Amino acid sequence: MSTTPRPPVAELTGEVIHRPTTGPEWWRTAVIYQVYPRSFGDADGDGIGDLPGVTERLDHLARLGVDAVWLSPFYRSPQKDAGYDVADYRDVDPLFGTLEDADRLIARARELGLRVIVDLVPNHTSDQHAWFRQALADGPNSAARSRYMFREGSGERGEEPPNNWQSVFGGPAWTRVSEREDAPGSAWERDGQWYLHLFDASQPDLNWESEEVHEEFRDVLRFWLDRGVDGFRVDVAHGLVKAPGLPDWSGHVRMVEGTEVEEGLAEAGDDVAVPDASDDVATGRSPMFDQDGVHEIYREWRAVLDEYDGDRILVAEAWVEPLERLAKYVRSDEMHQAFNFDFLVTRWDAAALRDSITGSYAANDAVGAPTTWVLSNHDVVRHASRLGLDETGKGPNGIGAEDPQPDAELGLRRARAATLLMLALPGSAYVYQGEELGLPEHTTLDDSLRQDPAWWRTGHAEKGRDGCRVPLPWRSDAPAFGFSPTGRAWLPQPDSWAELTPDVQEQQEGSTLRMYRAALELRRELGLGGGQLELLPAGEDVVAVRNTAGAAVVVLANLGAEPVPVPEGHEVILSSGPLTDGAVPTDTTAWLRPHS
Ligand code: NOJ
Repeated sequence: MSTTPRPPVAELTGEVIHRPTTGPEWWRTAVIYQVYPRSFGDADGDGIGDLPGVTERLDHLARLGVDAVWLSPFYRSPQKDAGYDVADYRDVDPLFGTLEDADRLIARARELGLRVIVDLVPNHTSDQHAWFRQALADGPNSAARSRYMFREGSGERGEEPPNNWQSVFGGPAWTRVSEREDAPGSAWERDGQWYLHLFDASQPDLNWESEEVHEEFRDVLRFWLDRGVDGFRVDVAHGLVKAPGLPDWSGHVRMVEGTEVEEGLAEAGDDVAVPDASDDVATGRSPMFDQDGVHEIYREWRAVLDEYDGDRILVAEAWVEPLERLAKYVRSDEMHQAFNFDFLVTRWDAAALRDSITGSYAANDAVGAPTTWVLSNHDVVRHASRLGLDETGKGPNGIGAEDPQPDAELGLRRARAATLLMLALPGSAYVYQGEELGLPEHTTLDDSLRQDPAWWRTGHAEKGRDGCRVPLPWRSDAPAFGFSPTGRAWLPQPDSWAELTPDVQEQQEGSTLRMYRAALELRRELGLGGGQLELLPAGEDVVAVRNTAGAAVVVLANLGAEPVPVPEGHEVILSSGPLTDGAVPTDTTAWLRPHS
């Protein structure tokens, strides 16, 4: 096999692209595991995961070696958007258990040394929330309506929506009250106001100009802080404040990757004349997201968290570009972390990854915040499948049986390599449930089983996110692979998952589960999360970095066609796949240390 000349990595002087951010706080270096409660573990056997099912399985996470658990919403909700439609922020949905179950989960996590982060959904409530029902009942100009974004329609009789905004899930972002079955009054008395919903019609947007809304959320924060949670992941953190006057804007904002400006409209930097051109339109930024006013809200919340002991945190879910604007959310008096979706959507391309890594540190270091890393979550095609598609990057919103199928072997190989690169980087990393098993997306789900509102609202153009939310497999020989005691599961698991259960992977040398455990153990032992990072010039198709946390660890991620030899004087301490003749093969990452 031909190999390129050995890069003398050991002698290379790298360019320092990150110096450790100040402070010993746990969240600067933490590995945080996302639990999606309906699909993690089901204790009561109804086929839907629940809080006792999580508590029973927390040992798995302690053994994996993560620092904290983030739970997606488990609050009272009609589940129109899998719990991101909250009807009561201070109660647990009976589907998931009770408040006492939440307390038990938090207590058990504490015993195991795991912190607990819960989800907060402040952009919108469910339409079943008491506030919204009251707003419908009380009618136009009522105090109850002022908590939401009600407006008169346009057109002669108000029959057109107030503006042209599109919902993130597809279709118009406005629904007229009179179109609802639960509209008050008899047909001729019904008022014709419209309400804004950036997501599903069952998720009305709150009005963050209302002081009552501010008070309510400060109180909700305290409710959960008093119960002992360590922080909040803030849903759609960039959405709460809208541009004054709600100006028309014809772009579409896609989940996770952010703004997409339709053809014919201004691209960032163009000075194309567009109707109702505002600054936002001219820069390609939407008037519904990332408005400067949101930052005041997070300063307010930070002050609430700072009243509590124990280093509680706020994590922004914000699809904001460029990285410098995202970094505004993590200035020292705002949130602690923001998800780095730039990294998640980066193509499997060494130069693009280097740019993303370098740019992420530059933006976050400038404000003294840790950079975070994430490859999968409940909104995107799992990275073991995404990286096996012809075109890598954010990927489609879901994959169906008739779509081009990912190359499973290639996807897993790259996913493991991407993970080892991620876990060697200083900062905080997020792991989505099941990725430690190398789970692929379910790409052949029967359409009749789909539940994501995006599937309906796009007229079936997008398959939606159900394929990354399939219940986890725990035991190869049990019904529903041990997800529930009855064998029920709200979505079917692919048969091939029998090979991927933890009991099987425990026994397999080199399994994905064992790789994650080894990586997390080394990361902790070597202090990689708090290291300084140098970018090494090791070839166009290689991402080569040196993490100098105490003893230096060199990380080589080879995305090129040629194997990259392990540099002299170095030993491999971990790799995402087997080495060939002392070289790191294509789509493989290795962690190296100088011989002692
Ligand atoms: C982002 C969440 O991650 C996603 O699952 C949800 O549908 C939207 N926000 C709306 O809350």
